Amino acid sequence: MKVTRTVSDYEKWFQNKSAEASVGFVPTMGFLHRGHISLIEASKAENDFTVCSIFVNPIQFNNPEDLKNYPRNEVADLEMLEKAGCDVVFIPPYKEVYPKPVTISFAFPGLDDVMEGEHRPGHFNGVAVVVSRLFEIIRPNLAYFGKKDYQQWMIIDNMTHLKFPGITIKGMPIVREEDGLAMSSRNARLSKEEREIAPLLYEVLKRSRDLLVDFSPAEVCNHCKKMINNSGMLRTEYFTIADAHTLVPIEKITANQKPVAFVAAWLGNVRLIDNLELF
Ligand code: PAF
Repeated sequence: MKVTRTVSDYEKWFQNKSAEASVGFVPTMGFLHRGHISLIEASKAENDFTVCSIFVNPIQFNNPEDLKNYPRNEVADLEMLEKAGCDVVFIPPYKEVYPKPVTISFAFPGLDDVMEGEHRPGHFNGVAVVVSRLFEIIRPNLAYFGKKDYQQWMIIDNMTHLKFPGITIKGMPIVREEDGLAMSSRNARLSKEEREIAPLLYEVLKRSRDLLVDFSPAEVCNHCKKMINNSGMLRTEYFTIADAHTLVPIEKITANQKPVAFVAAWLGNVRLIDNLELF
């Protein structure tokens, strides 16, 4: 596995491979878990080479504490990637990604002003800026994103259609712990007690599917929020049932609709998100 830390190092590797060889790309912020490895595996199955980037992107953090506490472990990450058969890792310092002050900005009306966009101002702009910059450097054919960050996946897909029509975006299934908790690097920051209660989010998401048979989406959301808050430890930031393509909250379930339930909740000082496709 080749470890590259500068754009020119990566470029040397890229120029040396045959022009026809396809590159699958898995962008990450490190502290890898099985969810990331599932993306590496998907990329390996579909491409000649798989490249993974590890870069904790400061400009997508709207909360400085979250950035400061974001878990990091480069040694363990490299071991996992090597074992998974990743071909190239790109671990750049800040200056390689942003050699000049960032002036570009993105807007995705309708997609970036709800849920995560509403509660984390500037977050999706930071994500779109870094992914676009990484795409310019890595020049992949396909890029893989986990659907745990469903809204992120949709926004990146949108940005890619506009700016990088040659790149295909793959949204991959959420990988869960045995008790249902969606895998996330932030889970490592949960205390033992918090970790025990965290799977409630997935339980409630599943429950929303049953409740939708008898209740309106708004009633289901209210009920689900209560179930989460009644745990006494979790505090719901939002619980929304929205359309899978437009992310517009659904008022009434009709045939052919593709509803997705989305949740964000605080557990101590860790913010967790999860979602479930209800179609
Ligand atoms: O999902 C993440 O880990 C990050 O948002 C991403 C896509 C690597 C951009 O920094």
